Amino acid sequence: MPMVVLGVTGCIAAYKACEVLRELQRFEVDVHVVMTSAATRFVGPMTFEALSRHPVFHDQWALGANSDIRHISLAEAADLLLVAPATANIVGKFARGIADDPLSTLYTATVAPTVIAPAMNTNMFDHPAVQENLATLRSRGVRIVEPGSGYLACGWLGRGRLAEVGEIVEATMAALARRRDLSGETVLVTAGPTVEDIDPVRFVSNRSSGRMGYRVAEAARDRGAQVILVSGPTELPAPSGLEYVSVRSAEEMARAVQEHFDHATVVVAAAAVADYRPVAVSAAKLKKGDGPRTLELVRTEDILGSLGDKKGERLLVGFAAETENLVDRARAKMSAKKLDLIVANDVADGFGGESNAAVLVRRAGAPVEVPLVSKRELADRICDEIVELRARVAEPEKAKAGPR
Ligand code: CTP
Repeated sequence: MPMVVLGVTGCIAAYKACEVLRELQRFEVDVHVVMTSAATRFVGPMTFEALSRHPVFHDQWALGANSDIRHISLAEAADLLLVAPATANIVGKFARGIADDPLSTLYTATVAPTVIAPAMNTNMFDHPAVQENLATLRSRGVRIVEPGSGYLACGWLGRGRLAEVGEIVEATMAALARRRDLSGETVLVTAGPTVEDIDPVRFVSNRSSGRMGYRVAEAARDRGAQVILVSGPTELPAPSGLEYVSVRSAEEMARAVQEHFDHATVVVAAAAVADYRPVAVSAAKLKKGDGPRTLELVRTEDILGSLGDKKGERLLVGFAAETENLVDRARAKMSAKKLDLIVANDVADGFGGESNAAVLVRRAGAPVEVPLVSKRELADRICDEIVELRARVAEPEKAKAGPR
């Protein structure tokens, strides 16, 4: 039975958390409740205690709350943290790592997936500070259940109303299902640009930030996969909980991928590998002359392309950065490189930022358009496709094995 910690914060919609709790129980979820002290002014902890059949954690300093350090024991035991309703205050604390109440302390102490259903006045919700904090949480993989529009408690008509109970429960159950759905897989991800040296001070490279690959690596890790992230030079910190291999040139990246390919069951090539490198790296700094200079370039190895023939049961996922005929060109790359999935994006939208729009092109079936979402959300969509592809590969095997 999965265990969900339901965080309730100080908002008039706190009473709806009772319904969320009951609904989750109908799906056989064991719910433990954590309340901020503001929340206890709206609904008494006893209500949640009686509904959940567990003590409610709302006072870090209460006698008994520290015999097992409650915020740590709950953080460890939780399969998921759901906050409904979430005020602007708790969203801000989560985003900035402030831990000064039972719920924000628990959030910083848990590695469980987190779902947040904000509820607040329209202007508060639209405030750049709140939107920035929500964007930070999204990029970290927190699932935000968007508030609806309607009459708010403050008398306003607008966005900010807690999402419907059914929607919150559905998002929670979906996040629970995603939790370990890549366990058993070893996902090898390439990310970032490669840097091709010309001499000790000059190089040829591109503007890839590496974010897309890093988000794929983090999403796969959070969903239970072993992850090897082979990264060209980026400004991003190496994510925790995975094997990180730092490389510089296309040649080094190719070597690292070959080395780890044997243990991989899935390869996601998100790196923007240089297609050309200078024919030779000058050991001394090149001196300028008066006339023009020609830089002779040679092709690098197609890292992903070289894996197709030896892929076996592995799934290969590539990216296609295009400016025109997105889907057709992606399909051509897919068959040339023997891929199972290709993520096509219009480079005008993608490079650099935290969000991305893409078209997921599968071998069979219609391409799926993913509108502009955070790169982490797109990463999770890619992981969803991997899970589905794996299930499809497993189906004929099961059929071959016959009924048991
Ligand atoms: N790729 C790779 N090794 C290379 C080049 C690309 O592994 N040397 C991978 C990328 O990580 C990406 C996919 O292949 O997943 C992109 O394919 P590619 O045909 O190289 O795309 P573009 O560079 O956009 O190609 P083109 O210039 O032909 O449009």
